[in-house]
Amino acid sequence: MPSLSIHAGGLDLKNPVLLAAGILGTTGASLRRAALAGAGGVVTKSVGSVPREGHPGPTIVHVKCGLLNAMGLPNPSYRDFQQEIKTARSAGVPVIASIFGSSATEFAQIARVLKADAFELNLSCPHAEKYGSELGRYPDLVESVTGAVKAAADVPVWVKLTPNTADILELGLAAQRGGADAVVAINTLKAMAIDIETGYPMLGNRYGGLSGQAIKPVAVRCVYELAGRLEIPVIGVGGISSWEDAVEMIMAGAQAVQVGTALLGGYGIFEEITCGISRYLERKSMTLEDLCGLAGRRSQ
Ligand code: FUM
Repeated sequence: MPSLSIHAGGLDLKNPVLLAAGILGTTGASLRRAALAGAGGVVTKSVGSVPREGHPGPTIVHVKCGLLNAMGLPNPSYRDFQQEIKTARSAGVPVIASIFGSSATEFAQIARVLKADAFELNLSCPHAEKYGSELGRYPDLVESVTGAVKAAADVPVWVKLTPNTADILELGLAAQRGGADAVVAINTLKAMAIDIETGYPMLGNRYGGLSGQAIKPVAVRCVYELAGRLEIPVIGVGGISSWEDAVEMIMAGAQAVQVGTALLGGYGIFEEITCGISRYLERKSMTLEDLCGLAGRRSQ
């Protein structure tokens, strides 16, 4: 079988299929389980500098085309999360800590103390006041936060970008200028749903983020645009639920992919996707390298 191991974003990965932030990433046990089920790396739920309860419920709503969430960045604080990362690391794959803050200083403070194999900067959550895309939609803030974390951390720094912008490339270029080792595209699309019996918004926070299959074409477009211009790797995420989706995202230019909402169908998705990619590469007599960015080379 063709090798699926890669070096991407400063990490050695046994395969390019990672657990995305936010799903099953709140405990060391669930992160470890994803790793043992075949993930090439796992990203934690986002952690910040102080404990947060998150938004009032309902925080998750199923819609026909995917999942709406407005969790509100609930977390026990990075200090109380260190043990979970330690547990997850015992599975032997890189553990990437997703972190958030309201300023470059707050991000850097977390990165200075928390021990992980890499950081993923959440500059893209679409529904948390003072956090996420409230900073991440401004290129100058993306650059300064990235630069501050790079100076504070001794591990690779990935920047997760928001699609809720007119120009994601501008944000990717800002992350690259700040010294990012990779960008991750995309976080959820800002969205809402209304209960037509009562007229109330369905999420406690009214607005949330849409994930799942509906956003995959948006993610593919963003990855394609970013990979065409950036010199740093792009990690693709958004609506991947099959090996075919992963192949498409890699052809768009992603060096690795992350799977989130599809995990609702069980941990078996990692093996399903990695085996599917392997069989595809074998059938086409290709390597992962051949696959990566193929659509960009075809359209030149
Ligand atoms: O609310 C949340 O915890 C989600 C964060 C995100 O979408 O990045």
